[in-house]
Amino acid sequence: MEIIREISMLRARVKEARSHGKLVGLVPTMGCLHQGHLALLAKARAENGLTILSIFVNPLQFGVGEDYEEYPRDLESDAVQVEKAGGHIIFAPTVKEMYPQGYATYVDVERLTAGLCGASRPHHFRGVTTVVAKLFNIVIPDNAYFGQKDAQQALVIQRMVRDLNMNVLVHIMPTVREADGLAMSSRNSYLSPAERRAALILFQTLLQVSEKIQGGQRDASAIQAFIVKEISSEPLATIDYVSIVDTEEIRPVKKISGRILIALAVRFGKTRLIDNIIVEV
Ligand code: PAJ
Repeated sequence: MEIIREISMLRARVKEARSHGKLVGLVPTMGCLHQGHLALLAKARAENGLTILSIFVNPLQFGVGEDYEEYPRDLESDAVQVEKAGGHIIFAPTVKEMYPQGYATYVDVERLTAGLCGASRPHHFRGVTTVVAKLFNIVIPDNAYFGQKDAQQALVIQRMVRDLNMNVLVHIMPTVREADGLAMSSRNSYLSPAERRAALILFQTLLQVSEKIQGGQRDASAIQAFIVKEISSEPLATIDYVSIVDTEEIRPVKKISGRILIALAVRFGKTRLIDNIIVEV
C-alpha cells in the first residue's frame, strides 16, 4: 500500500496498472475511516485490479461556521486500515494540489441540490461535485463507489456523471450501521454519551416508517408528521429537515409510489446527523 500526494504520481501509477489490463476502482472519502468506508473499499477491491481510496477533507464543501477545521483527521490509522483491507493506494492530496492559486472552475448540479441538505448547506453540493469531478478526471476510474448513507450526494453524483457523460460506473452501497442501528459516520465521534443514545431515534423511526409503508400507508404527509412527532419526542433532538422525495429530481411527493427516498437531518447538540431509507412500492 502506497500513500500518494501528487496528481502526477497518481496518474503514472494508474497508467501503469492500465497497461497491465487492470480495472481501476476509486473510493472517494474524507478519511477518519470506519466500517462504512471499508465496505466500499472491499467492494472496490473485489471488482478492480487497482483500488484507490482518496482522502481529502474538501474545504469547498464546508460552509462558513461548519466543522472544516475540527473535522477528524487521522491518516496514520486510516493507512493501517486500508493496508489491512487490501487497498493499493491512498491518494491524499494537499489543498494546494487540488485548488492551486487562481483556481476558478466549479461543477454545479441544479435543482437536485436545492432541497434537503442543499437547503441548509448552500454551496455544499457544488463543493462535492467539483471535487468528485476532479477526482474522476485525475484517476479516470472504471468504477467509483459511494454510500447510500449520503443519499442526496449519491443521486447528485449519479446525475453529474449522466449529464456530463463521464465514463465511470457509479456504485451505491448500502448504509453500514452500528450494532444498535446508528448509521456509521465520522461525525458520530462528536456526540456526547447522552446524544449518542438519543441519536438512535433516527433509525428506529425510519424502521417504523418502513413497516407503516409495508402495511399500506401511502400518504407522504402522514408519514412526515409521524416522523416529526417521533423525533420531537426526543428532547436532545432538533430537526433540520424531514423529506419524502422521488429519487430522480429529489422533489417532495404526496403519495408513496415507485422509488421514494425518506431522508432526514437532525441536530444533537452541535452535531448534525443524517439518515435515510429508500422504499420501493
Ligand atoms: P465521507 O463522509 O468520508 O464519505 C465517503 C463515502 O463513504 C461516501 O460515499 C459516503 O456516502 C460513504 N459512507 C459514509 N458513511 C457510510 C456508512 N455508514 N455506510 C455506507 N457508506 C458510508 O462523502 C464524503 O466523504 C465526501 O462528500 C466526498 C464524496 C468524499 C467528497 O468530498
